[in-house]
Amino acid sequence: MSDNTASRPIASSTGAITAVRGSVVDVRFDERLPPIRSLLRAGTDGQIAIEVLTQVDTRHVRGIALTPTQGLARGMPVVDTGGPLQAPVGKAILSRMFDVFGHAIDRLDEPKDVSWRSVHRQPPPLTQRSTTSKVFETGIKMIDVLVPLETGGKAGLFGGAGVGKTVLLTELIHNMVGQPDSTHKGVSIFCGIGERCREGQDLYAEMKEAGVLDNMVMVFGQMNEPPGARFRVGQAALTMAEYFRDDEQRDVLLLIDNIFRFIQAGSEVSGLMGQMPSRLGYQPTMGTELSALEERIANTKNGAITSIQAVYVPADDFTDPAAVHTFSHLSASIVLSRKRAGEGLFPAIDPLQSNSKMATPGIVGERHYALAQEIRRTLAQYADLKDIIAMLGLEQLSPADRAVVARARRLERFLTQPFFTTEQFTGLQGKLVSLADALDGCERILRDEFKDYPESALYMIGAISEVKVAKSKTKADTNADTNADTSADTSADTNAKESAHGANAPTAAAQAPQEQEQAHAP
Ligand SMILES: Nc1ncnc2c1ncn2[C@@H]1O[C@H](COP(=O)(O)OP(=O)(O)O)[C@@H](O)[C@H]1O
Ligand SMILES: [Mg+2]
Repeated sequence: MSDNTASRPIASSTGAITAVRGSVVDVRFDERLPPIRSLLRAGTDGQIAIEVLTQVDTRHVRGIALTPTQGLARGMPVVDTGGPLQAPVGKAILSRMFDVFGHAIDRLDEPKDVSWRSVHRQPPPLTQRSTTSKVFETGIKMIDVLVPLETGGKAGLFGGAGVGKTVLLTELIHNMVGQPDSTHKGVSIFCGIGERCREGQDLYAEMKEAGVLDNMVMVFGQMNEPPGARFRVGQAALTMAEYFRDDEQRDVLLLIDNIFRFIQAGSEVSGLMGQMPSRLGYQPTMGTELSALEERIANTKNGAITSIQAVYVPADDFTDPAAVHTFSHLSASIVLSRKRAGEGLFPAIDPLQSNSKMATPGIVGERHYALAQEIRRTLAQYADLKDIIAMLGLEQLSPADRAVVARARRLERFLTQPFFTTEQFTGLQGKLVSLADALDGCERILRDEFKDYPESALYMIGAISEVKVAKSKTKADTNADTNADTSADTSADTNAKESAHGANAPTAAAQAPQEQEQAHAP
């Protein structure tokens, strides 16, 4: 880090540690008290970094360590670097992987020819911002049809643990950056906050293999790092994004996994500093901290920063203050549901809870809009009918309602899609589907063209033209279809049989229609 600090104005002074409580460090400065956000360095070779958060009195500051504080003791000298935490910017950072301090962590030499910028920057003023309303296609049917994403917009992938946020994010990178004729020609920046460190390594290897690393930068502050580092890594990534937007005038794709961990790190820091918690133990300053970060993700005349953020939803509770605050910053919210993931309907996007501000006739066009509305209506009707089916069975529905159920279930199957990034464990080849193909398929299903096909013929296919292949294949198959995937289905079958024997547990009854439904299929 010395190379970095050397280039700064010499305003540094030396203090001494007066207290260390975990990550919180108190330092006494006799000459010049460092301002808030100053970066202090301690330890034999300055390996311990501390960011000043408050000035306790005229001689003492309290800060949070961005590194482990092992070996730190009272009386040890602390050097004020004379400025805040900085991030490297420049062409040389492309294809590299960094930690929160801008140190390369890809086992290559530190990049040369970079300049350093403070990670704390103001969002661009409103007068300089620009708005566009251009949709960008992702090649994922469910998203393109029902939740179109905006170029220069912010999209969130909401969901509890293990519902497929990271998989979907990686697939989006693959589709947008990895394709030769991809929609995105700019720079991509991936910021990992507080998630598994292994995921970072995996992604790096994957991107390298796909040959898209040249236009990519990765920054990580994962769950093994102290709260201070996780709290600042988002700002470091944004500083790089702003450099590419403002200095190089390129469009930037900013991917964040996971923005909830940023809020969580802020809450840890706040707790460590002894601040009174607010609702559900979150920090009282959550709203401000999140806006300060999200507002910087903005479009100007120079370029756009499109961002896609995974948002962990604690305990699947979408009223959690962290989720609610994040919702308000986004132009599209993609909600992943555990229930759909459990049924093997991947991507497990809940079409009725997800929304995008782009889904208006003025932007996507009349036909797309009308179709999307009809799909939503059909799925909503099916959701309403589920209770009745669970209690009375499918046979009790009117023929019109039964047709709705058939259409909805076929739509649900058609809107699943095999992913490139899951090829190894699903054994299915990934599919990229154009918006036109996706719309066409949905329209034909709504017109009942496929009502004589088994539902499974539509499951995990790409464009609707692939359906015939699936049909002939499934004919030979046994009747364990629909959710193709599995145990969920076998258990449904057994449940159904049990319920026939008179056991009428509501779940068993709810599964029964699957069986009956299949009986209709040829
Ligand atoms: N599109 C998909 N196709 C098949 N399996 C998936 C898909 N998405 C998620 N999964 C399964 O769910 C698991 C958890 O996904 P992950 O993205 O790591 O969850 P999260 O990031 O939400 O915690 C994956 O390891 C995979 O087994
Ligand atoms: Mg994840």
